[in-house]
Amino acid sequence: MWGGSYFVKQPGVSSHEKPTQKGVMPQLPAYVRMLPLAKRQKRRPWRSRREAAWRNLKRLFWGETHVTSRLDTTALKNLDRAHHLHPFTDFQDYAHQGGRIISRAEHVYIYDSDGNKIQDGMSGLWCCNLGYSQNSIKEAVAAQLNELPFYNNFFKCSNQPAVELASALCKVSPAGFNHVFFTNSGSEANDTQIKLVHRYFDLLGKPNKKLIISRKNAYHGSTIAAGSLGGMSAMHEQTMGLNYIHHINQPHWFELGGDLDEHAFGIKAAQELADKIDELGEDKVAAFIAEPIQGAGGVIVPPESYWPEVKRILEERDILFISDEVICGFGRTGEWFGCETYGTTPDLITFAKAVTNGYMPLGGSLVGDKVADVLLSGGGEFAHGLTYSGHPASCAAGLATLAIYEHTDILTVTREQLAPHFQASLEQLIDHPVVGQVRCKGLVAAVELVKDKASRERLAPQSAGAVYCRDQAIGDGLMVRQTGDAMIMAPPFVTELDEIDTLVAKLTVALDKTGAHFGVS
Ligand SMILES: Cc1ncc(COP(=O)(O)O)c(C=O)c1O
Repeated sequence: MWGGSYFVKQPGVSSHEKPTQKGVMPQLPAYVRMLPLAKRQKRRPWRSRREAAWRNLKRLFWGETHVTSRLDTTALKNLDRAHHLHPFTDFQDYAHQGGRIISRAEHVYIYDSDGNKIQDGMSGLWCCNLGYSQNSIKEAVAAQLNELPFYNNFFKCSNQPAVELASALCKVSPAGFNHVFFTNSGSEANDTQIKLVHRYFDLLGKPNKKLIISRKNAYHGSTIAAGSLGGMSAMHEQTMGLNYIHHINQPHWFELGGDLDEHAFGIKAAQELADKIDELGEDKVAAFIAEPIQGAGGVIVPPESYWPEVKRILEERDILFISDEVICGFGRTGEWFGCETYGTTPDLITFAKAVTNGYMPLGGSLVGDKVADVLLSGGGEFAHGLTYSGHPASCAAGLATLAIYEHTDILTVTREQLAPHFQASLEQLIDHPVVGQVRCKGLVAAVELVKDKASRERLAPQSAGAVYCRDQAIGDGLMVRQTGDAMIMAPPFVTELDEIDTLVAKLTVALDKTGAHFGVS
């Protein structure tokens, strides 16, 4: 809050420049830090009551937001372009055009440093499922930093939040999951899964079982191993993938279904798994990895026939199943985990993102008893770990997040009220001239854009239709993403029903503008 902030005049900022920073104590010179607050405030003549009131007024009426920086927006944007290499970004393009500085967030809204208020239809990056105003998580992290800011979990050491979170996660996981290995991210968690799977079969005396089957257009992260697991062709073009990972087609009926109905296509797509196992040899294949719903690949909600058939195929074979729940976990599809929504029975579960509501980096592998029993009874060191595996502050965030899920009715309300309303509202868009398909499960959805509904012809080459639509939506204050020709959404669970209506209304306006722009009406 403004009242409690330390507004620091920074070295190098002349006294007539606006001091935009909400600074922090350690940035003050030592001699100032030791003074009581009242005296310090006297030493900052620019922070007069009038000025503070003026800033508050501007913020209230014109939406001006403060940035946690000593610099104003223009200076920040310039430094960003000059020094900051952004993930999954065209560096050359960004260095010329720059981007948007997000300066604060509240409830389901993000605010940029130019004063724009944007409704977040993506939960950050599929992670802030409970929105941005969960004080108990913020306070738990702060308290943990005061108590024990860091200690590692190597060398027979542990810390209280890591212990408690491991146990809490096992309680909310499907039956038969009683062990957790912590990482910082979903990518690292999937790297860990590969090592766990390989170790499992080594200990069983089956060292030839090393191959992993994944799916085209899947996203499992961006380290070398996780990127290889993923099926994003653009990523494979830039990095030599691992040769023990193989890919089958995704269950994307709209893209690949041709003349088959959805049910028949789902069975066919699942059958590709059986065919691939036969081709590679069951004695060589260790695991199949898949997201319950492919998220980053375009929210590919599979046909209802797909997962039961995959389950049947896996049960008949000696192959482990890794369910990558980095997006689907923690209620996104209506149940705690996507595998529960679809009735699959994984041996390993990958989690990240919403486990801390996105407030702190944390991921991990949930290890089912079948695998854990072998790993534990086999003995020998598991040669894998990260400095921050089980970081106390991240785990404190995880515990506080799980407490919200457990002690409120957020999951029930999401499943029984919010998600059905979201789905029903979006499904009405099927009559829109540029909409070819609406896919929705729980609170994750995609709206596929087309020029011609019957032939499923795309609206414009190179996803230009969806890119245009996304830009219109963001310009109108709605943060949605585009993947290929689909608009994708994953709103926070704390979004109110009328805010869902606003989301769909803004998306509709963006679709209208897109139709007009590309001459489809
Ligand atoms: C299904 C899935 N797995 C793994 C990852 C990678 O997670 P991270 O970005 O935390 O490394 C993602 C990220 O979006 C994801 O969607």
